[in-house]
Amino acid sequence: MSARLIDGKALSARVRGEVAERVRALKAQGVTPGLAVVLVGEDPASQVYVRNKAAACTAAGMHSRVIPLGADTPEGELLDVIETLNADPAIHGILVQLPLPGHIDTGLVIETISAAKDVDGFHVSNAGLLMTGRPLFRPCTPYGVMKMLESENVPLRGAEAVIVGASNIVGKPMAMLLLAAGATVTLCNSKTRDLGAQTRRADVLVVATGRPGIVTGDMVKPGAVVIDVGINRLESGRLVGDVDFDSAAAVASAITPVPGGVGPMTIAMLLVNTVEAAERTLQ
Ligand code: GUN
Repeated sequence: MSARLIDGKALSARVRGEVAERVRALKAQGVTPGLAVVLVGEDPASQVYVRNKAAACTAAGMHSRVIPLGADTPEGELLDVIETLNADPAIHGILVQLPLPGHIDTGLVIETISAAKDVDGFHVSNAGLLMTGRPLFRPCTPYGVMKMLESENVPLRGAEAVIVGASNIVGKPMAMLLLAAGATVTLCNSKTRDLGAQTRRADVLVVATGRPGIVTGDMVKPGAVVIDVGINRLESGRLVGDVDFDSAAAVASAITPVPGGVGPMTIAMLLVNTVEAAERTLQ
C-alpha cells in the first residue's frame, strides 16, 4: 500500500469537539440543542446507526430523543409523530432513519418533516436549496466527505470528480457539493457503460453503491484520492467498503478505510447540522 489513510475517526472526533463547544455556548444562552431520531421497525443495522447517533448527541451535550416504532406502524401514525416533533421547541433536528417499511411512503414522510428541522437535508426544499447554491442543511454523508477532502487539502477547483452511485442520500448531493467547490463532476449510475473508463479519469473518486468490490485498483487513476462510502457486511462478518481496498490503495495517493472512514463523519456532520439548527433559533 502506498496511499495515505484518511482517518475519519480522528477527524470526526475533532468535529465533535467543535460541536460540543458550540453546544456549551448555546446552553449558556438557555438553549439545549435537541435531536429526535425516529426508527420504524427492528432492522439490526438501523438499530446500531440510531444508537450511535443518539450516543454521539449525548456525548456532545445535546438532548437526544429516540422514538422507536413498530414495523407495522401505520403511515398516518408516523406522520402524527413527525408533526408533534415539528411543533416541539425542545427539538431542533428530526431524523427518520431509512429505509422505512414498504407500506410507508418515504417521500411523504420526508416532506412532512419541517424543512427547518430536516438535519438530514433530504426534504425537497433543502435538496432544491442545495441545487441552487443556497444550502440550508447539507446531507450528512456528502457533507462529511467534503470535510475530509478539505482537511486533506485536496484541490477541487478544476479537478475531475467522479461519483459512482446516484442516490438521493449520497450521490446526487455529493455531485452538488463538489460542483459548488469547482470540480468537474461525473455522476455514474448502475447503467453506466464501461465504469472503469469513467473512474480512471477521476482525481477524486467517491464510491457509494452498496456493492462490495465494485471499484478495483485497475479502475483508479494513479495518485487519485479515493473516498469509499460503502459499508457492507460480508458473510464472514467482515465489514468492507465498495472499493477493493488493497488494490486501490496501491495506486491511490489517499484513501478512506472501512470502517473508520466516512462512517464516523456522517454522525459528526449530523451533530453539526443539529447545532446549526439550534443556533438559527436564536438569530
Ligand atoms: N440510512 C442510511 N443513511 C441514512 C442517513 O444519512 N439518514 C437517514 N435518515 N437514514 C439513513
